[in-house]
Amino acid sequence: MTTLSAGGRDRLRFGIFMPTVSNSPNISHYKADQADWTFAANRAIGLAAEEVGFDFLFPVSRWRTIGGDIDYHGKSLETMTWAAAMLASTSRIQIFSTVHVPAFNPVVAAKMGASLDHIGNGRWGINIVSGWNRSEFDMMGIEMLEHGKRYQRSEDFIKILKGLWTAPPGSFNFESEHYTVRGGYVMPQPSARPHPTIVNAGTSNDAREMVARQCDWAFVCPVSMDDAQDLAADFKARAQGYGRSVRLVCMVLPVWAATRAEAEAERARVVEQMDAVAVRNWADGVGLESGSFSQQTLETFAFGAGSLPLLGTADEVAEQIAELYRRGMDGVLMSYMDYLGDTRRFGQDIVPRLRAMGVV
Ligand SMILES: Cc1cc2nc3c(=O)[nH]c(=O)nc-3n(C[C@H](O)[C@H](O)[C@H](O)COP(=O)(O)O)c2cc1C
Repeated sequence: MTTLSAGGRDRLRFGIFMPTVSNSPNISHYKADQADWTFAANRAIGLAAEEVGFDFLFPVSRWRTIGGDIDYHGKSLETMTWAAAMLASTSRIQIFSTVHVPAFNPVVAAKMGASLDHIGNGRWGINIVSGWNRSEFDMMGIEMLEHGKRYQRSEDFIKILKGLWTAPPGSFNFESEHYTVRGGYVMPQPSARPHPTIVNAGTSNDAREMVARQCDWAFVCPVSMDDAQDLAADFKARAQGYGRSVRLVCMVLPVWAATRAEAEAERARVVEQMDAVAVRNWADGVGLESGSFSQQTLETFAFGAGSLPLLGTADEVAEQIAELYRRGMDGVLMSYMDYLGDTRRFGQDIVPRLRAMGVV
Protein backbone atom coordinates (compact mmCIF):
# COMPACT_ATOMS: atom_id res chain seq x y z
CA MET A 1 0.00 0.00 0.00
CA THR A 2 1.23 3.52 -0.75
CA THR A 3 1.32 6.56 1.45
CA LEU A 4 -1.53 9.00 1.02
CA SER A 5 -0.51 12.51 0.08
CA ALA A 6 -3.91 14.27 0.39
CA GLY A 7 -3.66 17.08 2.93
CA GLY A 8 -0.15 15.98 3.79
CA ARG A 9 -1.53 13.18 5.93
CA ASP A 10 -0.47 9.57 5.89
CA ARG A 11 -3.07 7.10 4.73
CA LEU A 12 -5.26 5.41 7.33
CA ARG A 13 -3.61 2.44 9.07
CA PHE A 14 -5.71 -0.59 9.85
CA GLY A 15 -5.14 -3.41 12.26
CA ILE A 16 -6.85 -6.25 14.08
CA PHE A 17 -7.54 -6.51 17.80
CA MET A 18 -6.56 -10.18 17.87
CA PRO A 19 -8.37 -12.95 19.75
CA THR A 20 -5.47 -13.78 22.05
CA VAL A 21 -8.16 -14.25 24.71
CA SER A 22 -11.13 -16.63 24.62
CA ASN A 23 -14.56 -15.33 23.64
CA SER A 24 -13.49 -12.26 21.69
CA PRO A 25 -14.89 -9.83 20.90
CA ASN A 26 -18.30 -9.77 22.62
CA ILE A 27 -19.36 -10.34 26.23
CA SER A 28 -22.33 -12.40 25.06
CA HIS A 29 -23.65 -15.92 24.67
CA TYR A 30 -24.40 -15.14 21.04
CA LYS A 31 -21.78 -16.81 18.82
CA ALA A 32 -19.50 -17.28 21.84
CA ASP A 33 -16.46 -19.13 20.52
CA GLN A 34 -14.40 -21.01 23.13
CA ALA A 35 -11.64 -21.98 20.68
CA ASP A 36 -10.88 -18.62 19.07
CA TRP A 37 -7.82 -17.92 21.27
CA THR A 38 -5.65 -20.77 19.96
CA PHE A 39 -2.34 -20.01 18.30
CA ALA A 40 -3.48 -21.87 15.18
CA ALA A 41 -6.48 -19.51 14.90
CA ASN A 42 -4.30 -16.44 15.53
CA ARG A 43 -1.74 -17.52 12.96
CA ALA A 44 -4.40 -18.09 10.28
CA ILE A 45 -5.95 -14.66 10.95
CA GLY A 46 -2.50 -13.00 10.93
CA LEU A 47 -1.57 -14.56 7.59
CA ALA A 48 -4.92 -13.56 6.07
CA ALA A 49 -4.46 -10.01 7.41
CA GLU A 50 -1.02 -9.78 5.89
CA GLU A 51 -2.35 -10.92 2.54
CA VAL A 52 -5.09 -8.29 2.60
CA GLY A 53 -2.54 -5.56 3.44
CA PHE A 54 -3.38 -4.87 7.09
CA ASP A 55 -0.77 -2.78 8.88
CA PHE A 56 -0.71 -4.30 12.36
CA LEU A 57 -1.93 -6.98 14.77
CA PHE A 58 -2.67 -5.98 18.36
CA PRO A 59 -3.20 -8.52 21.17
CA VAL A 60 -5.26 -8.46 24.34
CA SER A 61 -3.21 -9.24 27.44
CA ARG A 62 -5.08 -10.88 30.30
CA TRP A 63 -3.80 -12.80 33.33
CA ARG A 64 -7.03 -14.28 34.66
CA THR A 65 -10.66 -14.79 33.70
CA ILE A 66 -13.28 -12.05 33.84
CA GLY A 67 -15.79 -14.82 34.66
CA GLY A 68 -19.47 -15.24 33.79
CA ASP A 69 -21.17 -18.21 32.11
CA ILE A 70 -19.00 -17.83 29.01
CA ASP A 71 -15.84 -17.61 31.15
CA TYR A 72 -14.95 -14.34 29.40
CA HIS A 73 -11.19 -14.17 28.69
CA GLY A 74 -10.78 -17.40 30.66
CA LYS A 75 -8.04 -18.64 28.36
CA SER A 76 -5.38 -16.41 26.88
CA LEU A 77 -1.94 -16.37 25.29
CA GLU A 78 0.81 -14.30 26.93
CA THR A 79 1.60 -11.58 24.43
CA MET A 80 5.44 -11.43 24.41
CA THR A 81 5.59 -15.13 23.57
CA TRP A 82 2.59 -14.78 21.21
CA ALA A 83 4.38 -11.97 19.35
CA ALA A 84 7.55 -14.05 18.95
CA ALA A 85 5.63 -16.81 17.22
CA MET A 86 3.48 -14.41 15.18
CA LEU A 87 6.55 -12.47 13.99
CA ALA A 88 8.22 -15.72 12.96
CA SER A 89 5.06 -16.75 11.06
CA THR A 90 4.70 -13.50 9.08
CA SER A 91 6.97 -11.23 7.08
CA ARG A 92 5.48 -7.73 6.59
CA ILE A 93 2.84 -6.88 9.18
CA GLN A 94 3.65 -5.02 12.44
CA ILE A 95 2.95 -6.99 15.62
CA PHE A 96 2.48 -5.61 19.14
CA SER A 97 2.85 -7.01 22.63
CA THR A 98 0.95 -5.61 25.59
CA VAL A 99 2.90 -5.20 28.81
CA HIS A 100 1.39 -4.61 32.24
CA VAL A 101 3.93 -2.32 33.84
CA PRO A 102 3.54 -3.63 37.43
CA ALA A 103 4.26 -7.21 36.33
CA PHE A 104 7.52 -6.60 34.42
CA ASN A 105 10.98 -5.36 35.32
CA PRO A 106 11.71 -2.72 32.63
CA VAL A 107 15.19 -4.11 31.88
CA VAL A 108 13.67 -7.54 31.25
CA ALA A 109 10.94 -6.01 29.06
CA ALA A 110 13.58 -4.01 27.11
CA LYS A 111 15.60 -7.19 26.52
CA MET A 112 12.54 -9.14 25.43
CA GLY A 113 11.49 -6.27 23.17
CA ALA A 114 14.90 -6.04 21.54
CA SER A 115 14.79 -9.79 20.91
CA LEU A 116 11.32 -9.51 19.38
CA ASP A 117 12.48 -6.62 17.19
CA HIS A 118 15.25 -8.83 15.81
CA ILE A 119 12.97 -11.84 15.34
CA GLY A 120 10.64 -9.62 13.28
CA ASN A 121 13.26 -7.46 11.54
CA GLY A 122 12.01 -4.25 13.12
CA ARG A 123 8.25 -5.06 13.00
CA TRP A 124 7.54 -5.23 16.74
CA GLY A 125 5.83 -2.61 18.94
CA ILE A 126 4.79 -2.34 22.59
CA ASN A 127 1.52 -1.35 24.27
CA ILE A 128 2.04 -0.05 27.80
CA VAL A 129 -0.75 -0.80 30.30
CA SER A 130 -0.43 0.90 33.69
CA GLY A 131 -2.71 -1.64 35.36
CA TRP A 132 -6.38 -1.37 36.28
CA ASN A 133 -7.55 -4.97 36.82
CA ARG A 134 -7.19 -5.42 40.58
CA SER A 135 -7.89 -9.18 40.58
CA GLU A 136 -4.88 -9.77 38.31
CA PHE A 137 -2.49 -7.89 40.58
CA ASP A 138 -3.99 -9.35 43.79
CA MET A 139 -3.19 -12.77 42.32
CA MET A 140 0.46 -11.69 41.85
CA GLY A 141 0.74 -10.12 45.30
CA ILE A 142 1.34 -6.74 43.65
CA GLU A 143 -0.19 -3.71 45.30
CA MET A 144 -1.93 -1.28 42.97
CA LEU A 145 -0.74 2.32 43.21
CA GLU A 146 -3.16 5.21 43.04
CA HIS A 147 -3.96 6.31 39.48
CA GLY A 148 -1.52 9.24 39.14
CA LYS A 149 1.36 7.21 40.57
CA ARG A 150 0.63 4.34 38.20
CA TYR A 151 1.19 6.67 35.30
CA GLN A 152 4.34 8.19 36.85
CA ARG A 153 5.70 4.65 37.06
CA SER A 154 4.64 3.87 33.46
CA GLU A 155 6.35 7.02 32.25
CA ASP A 156 9.54 5.96 34.08
CA PHE A 157 9.17 2.51 32.50
CA ILE A 158 9.03 4.03 29.01
CA LYS A 159 12.02 6.30 29.69
CA ILE A 160 13.99 3.21 30.74
CA LEU A 161 12.97 1.31 27.60
CA LYS A 162 14.06 4.22 25.42
CA GLY A 163 17.32 4.64 27.33
CA LEU A 164 18.23 0.97 27.12
CA TRP A 165 17.29 0.83 23.45
CA THR A 166 19.22 3.94 22.36
CA ALA A 167 22.05 4.90 24.81
CA PRO A 168 25.50 3.33 24.39
CA PRO A 169 25.24 -0.14 26.01
CA GLY A 170 26.35 -0.10 29.64
CA SER A 171 25.97 3.67 29.99
CA PHE A 172 22.30 4.11 30.89
CA ASN A 173 21.46 5.02 34.49
CA PHE A 174 18.05 5.79 35.96
CA GLU A 175 16.89 6.56 39.45
CA SER A 176 13.33 7.33 40.55
CA GLU A 177 10.82 6.46 43.25
CA HIS A 178 9.89 3.40 41.19
CA TYR A 179 13.06 2.13 39.53
CA THR A 180 16.83 2.00 39.76
CA VAL A 181 18.90 1.04 36.71
CA ARG A 182 22.69 1.12 36.87
CA GLY A 183 24.91 0.70 33.84
CA GLY A 184 21.89 -0.45 31.81
CA TYR A 185 22.94 -2.83 29.06
CA VAL A 186 20.82 -4.34 26.29
CA MET A 187 22.60 -5.79 23.29
CA PRO A 188 21.64 -6.10 20.56
CA GLN A 189 19.58 -2.94 20.64
CA PRO A 190 16.46 -2.93 18.44
CA SER A 191 16.87 -2.30 14.74
CA ALA A 192 13.74 -0.10 14.61
CA ARG A 193 14.82 3.54 14.77
CA PRO A 194 14.67 5.59 16.89
CA HIS A 195 13.07 2.72 18.84
CA PRO A 196 10.16 0.26 18.50
CA THR A 197 6.70 1.87 18.34
CA ILE A 198 5.38 2.73 21.81
CA VAL A 199 1.62 2.77 22.32
CA ASN A 200 -0.77 3.46 25.19
CA ALA A 201 -4.49 2.74 25.31
CA GLY A 202 -5.80 4.83 28.18
CA THR A 203 -7.88 8.00 27.91
CA SER A 204 -7.81 9.28 31.48
CA ASN A 205 -6.12 12.64 32.02
CA ASP A 206 -3.04 10.87 33.40
CA ALA A 207 -2.89 8.65 30.30
CA ARG A 208 -3.27 11.60 27.93
CA GLU A 209 -0.40 13.47 29.55
CA MET A 210 1.90 10.45 29.46
CA VAL A 211 1.03 9.78 25.81
CA ALA A 212 1.70 13.41 24.92
CA ARG A 213 5.17 13.22 26.47
CA GLN A 214 6.28 9.67 25.65
CA CYS A 215 4.17 7.66 23.18
CA ASP A 216 3.93 7.35 19.41
CA TRP A 217 0.31 6.19 19.17
CA ALA A 218 -2.81 6.42 21.35
CA PHE A 219 -5.50 3.75 21.06
CA VAL A 220 -8.93 4.98 22.15
CA CYS A 221 -12.55 3.82 22.23
CA PRO A 222 -14.87 6.77 21.59
CA VAL A 223 -18.64 6.37 21.93
CA SER A 224 -19.51 8.47 18.85
CA MET A 225 -18.00 10.26 15.83
CA ASP A 226 -18.03 13.56 17.76
CA ASP A 227 -16.26 11.93 20.68
CA ALA A 228 -13.66 10.50 18.26
CA GLN A 229 -13.04 13.98 16.85
CA ASP A 230 -12.68 15.50 20.33
CA LEU A 231 -10.29 12.76 21.45
CA ALA A 232 -8.10 13.11 18.36
CA ALA A 233 -7.95 16.89 18.71
CA ASP A 234 -7.16 16.77 22.43
CA PHE A 235 -4.42 14.11 22.23
CA LYS A 236 -2.77 15.86 19.29
CA ALA A 237 -2.90 19.30 20.89
CA ARG A 238 -1.36 17.97 24.11
CA ALA A 239 1.48 16.30 22.20
CA GLN A 240 2.07 19.50 20.24
CA GLY A 241 2.39 21.29 23.57
CA TYR A 242 5.48 19.15 24.20
CA GLY A 243 6.80 19.67 20.66
CA ARG A 244 5.81 16.13 19.68
CA SER A 245 3.19 14.46 17.51
CA VAL A 246 1.03 11.48 18.32
CA ARG A 247 -1.23 9.38 16.12
CA LEU A 248 -4.65 8.11 17.11
CA VAL A 249 -6.23 4.71 16.55
CA CYS A 250 -9.95 4.11 17.09
CA MET A 251 -11.20 0.75 18.39
CA VAL A 252 -14.18 -0.35 16.25
CA LEU A 253 -16.35 -3.39 15.61
CA PRO A 254 -17.54 -3.30 11.99
CA VAL A 255 -20.46 -5.46 10.93
CA TRP A 256 -21.50 -5.17 7.30
CA ALA A 257 -24.27 -7.05 5.52
CA ALA A 258 -26.56 -6.77 2.50
CA THR A 259 -28.74 -4.30 4.40
CA ARG A 260 -28.20 -1.99 7.34
CA ALA A 261 -31.12 -3.67 9.15
CA GLU A 262 -29.32 -7.01 8.98
CA ALA A 263 -26.14 -5.57 10.51
CA GLU A 264 -28.15 -3.85 13.26
CA ALA A 265 -30.02 -7.09 13.98
CA GLU A 266 -26.68 -8.85 14.50
CA ARG A 267 -25.65 -6.25 17.09
CA ALA A 268 -29.07 -6.51 18.77
CA ARG A 269 -28.66 -10.28 19.16
CA VAL A 270 -25.24 -9.78 20.82
CA VAL A 271 -26.73 -7.28 23.26
CA GLU A 272 -29.92 -9.31 23.98
CA GLN A 273 -27.83 -12.36 24.82
CA MET A 274 -25.15 -10.54 26.86
CA ASP A 275 -23.53 -12.53 29.66
CA ALA A 276 -24.89 -10.41 32.50
CA VAL A 277 -22.33 -11.59 35.07
CA ALA A 278 -19.28 -11.20 32.83
CA VAL A 279 -20.38 -7.80 31.54
CA ARG A 280 -20.97 -6.62 35.12
CA ASN A 281 -17.52 -7.90 36.17
CA TRP A 282 -15.96 -6.10 33.21
CA ALA A 283 -17.84 -2.86 33.89
CA ASP A 284 -17.00 -2.97 37.62
CA GLY A 285 -13.32 -3.58 36.88
CA VAL A 286 -12.80 -0.90 34.25
CA GLY A 287 -15.39 1.41 35.82
CA LEU A 288 -13.85 1.38 39.28
CA GLU A 289 -10.18 1.37 38.42
CA SER A 290 -9.89 3.12 35.09
CA GLY A 291 -10.35 6.69 34.08
CA SER A 292 -11.04 5.71 30.50
CA PHE A 293 -14.58 4.36 30.26
CA SER A 294 -16.82 6.96 31.86
CA GLN A 295 -19.31 7.10 28.97
CA GLN A 296 -19.73 3.38 28.37
CA THR A 297 -22.86 1.40 29.28
CA LEU A 298 -23.43 -2.34 29.84
CA GLU A 299 -24.76 -2.48 26.28
CA THR A 300 -21.68 -0.89 24.74
CA PHE A 301 -19.47 -3.21 26.77
CA ALA A 302 -21.45 -6.28 25.63
CA PHE A 303 -20.87 -5.46 21.96
CA GLY A 304 -17.13 -5.46 21.35
CA ALA A 305 -16.14 -4.67 24.97
CA GLY A 306 -16.51 -0.94 24.31
CA SER A 307 -15.65 -0.80 20.59
CA LEU A 308 -17.41 1.84 18.48
CA PRO A 309 -20.00 -0.09 16.41
CA LEU A 310 -19.75 0.49 12.65
CA LEU A 311 -22.92 -1.01 11.18
CA GLY A 312 -24.45 -1.07 7.72
CA THR A 313 -23.82 -2.12 4.17
CA ALA A 314 -20.24 -2.31 2.87
CA ASP A 315 -20.67 1.22 1.44
CA GLU A 316 -21.92 2.55 4.77
CA VAL A 317 -19.20 0.90 6.83
CA ALA A 318 -16.47 2.14 4.46
CA GLU A 319 -17.97 5.63 4.71
CA GLN A 320 -17.93 5.48 8.54
CA ILE A 321 -14.26 4.48 8.51
CA ALA A 322 -13.51 7.33 6.10
CA GLU A 323 -15.41 9.67 8.43
CA LEU A 324 -13.24 8.62 11.38
CA TYR A 325 -10.21 9.43 9.26
CA ARG A 326 -11.61 12.85 8.34
CA ARG A 327 -12.24 13.55 12.01
CA GLY A 328 -8.61 13.02 12.91
CA MET A 329 -8.19 9.28 13.49
CA ASP A 330 -5.03 7.89 11.88
CA GLY A 331 -5.95 4.26 12.23
CA VAL A 332 -8.67 1.78 13.11
CA LEU A 333 -8.27 -1.26 15.35
CA MET A 334 -10.89 -3.78 14.35
CA SER A 335 -12.50 -6.63 16.20
CA TYR A 336 -14.71 -8.94 14.19
CA MET A 337 -17.73 -11.15 14.79
CA ASP A 338 -15.99 -13.80 12.66
CA TYR A 339 -12.27 -13.07 12.77
CA LEU A 340 -10.92 -15.12 9.89
CA GLY A 341 -13.92 -14.72 7.59
CA ASP A 342 -14.28 -10.99 8.21
CA THR A 343 -10.55 -10.36 7.74
CA ARG A 344 -10.86 -11.80 4.24
CA ARG A 345 -14.22 -10.07 3.59
CA PHE A 346 -12.73 -6.74 4.72
CA GLY A 347 -10.10 -7.14 2.01
CA GLN A 348 -12.73 -7.89 -0.61
CA ASP A 349 -15.55 -5.55 0.41
CA ILE A 350 -14.13 -2.59 2.33
CA VAL A 351 -10.50 -2.03 1.29
CA PRO A 352 -11.34 -1.30 -2.38
CA ARG A 353 -13.97 1.23 -1.27
CA LEU A 354 -11.50 2.95 1.10
CA ARG A 355 -8.94 3.00 -1.67
CA ALA A 356 -11.42 4.61 -4.05
CA MET A 357 -12.05 7.30 -1.40
CA GLY A 358 -8.30 7.94 -1.06
CA VAL A 359 -8.25 6.84 2.58
CA VAL A 360 -5.88 3.86 2.31
C1 LIG B 1 -7.52 -0.73 22.34
C2 LIG B 1 -7.30 -1.00 23.79
C3 LIG B 1 -6.55 -2.10 24.16
C4 LIG B 1 -6.34 -2.39 25.51
N1 LIG B 1 -5.67 -3.52 25.84
C5 LIG B 1 -5.58 -3.88 27.14
C6 LIG B 1 -5.05 -5.14 27.49
O1 LIG B 1 -4.68 -5.94 26.63
N2 LIG B 1 -4.98 -5.47 28.81
C7 LIG B 1 -5.41 -4.62 29.79
O2 LIG B 1 -5.34 -4.97 30.95
N3 LIG B 1 -5.92 -3.40 29.48
C8 LIG B 1 -6.02 -3.03 28.19
N4 LIG B 1 -6.58 -1.81 27.85
C9 LIG B 1 -6.89 -0.87 28.93
C10 LIG B 1 -6.10 0.43 28.87
O3 LIG B 1 -4.77 0.24 28.56
C11 LIG B 1 -6.19 1.27 30.14
O4 LIG B 1 -5.26 0.86 31.10
C12 LIG B 1 -7.53 1.16 30.78
O5 LIG B 1 -8.48 1.59 29.87
C13 LIG B 1 -7.57 1.99 32.03
O6 LIG B 1 -7.55 3.33 31.69
P1 LIG B 1 -6.63 4.33 32.48
O7 LIG B 1 -5.35 3.60 32.62
O8 LIG B 1 -6.54 5.56 31.64
O9 LIG B 1 -7.31 4.57 33.77
C14 LIG B 1 -6.84 -1.51 26.51
C15 LIG B 1 -7.59 -0.40 26.12
C16 LIG B 1 -7.83 -0.13 24.78
C17 LIG B 1 -8.64 1.06 24.39
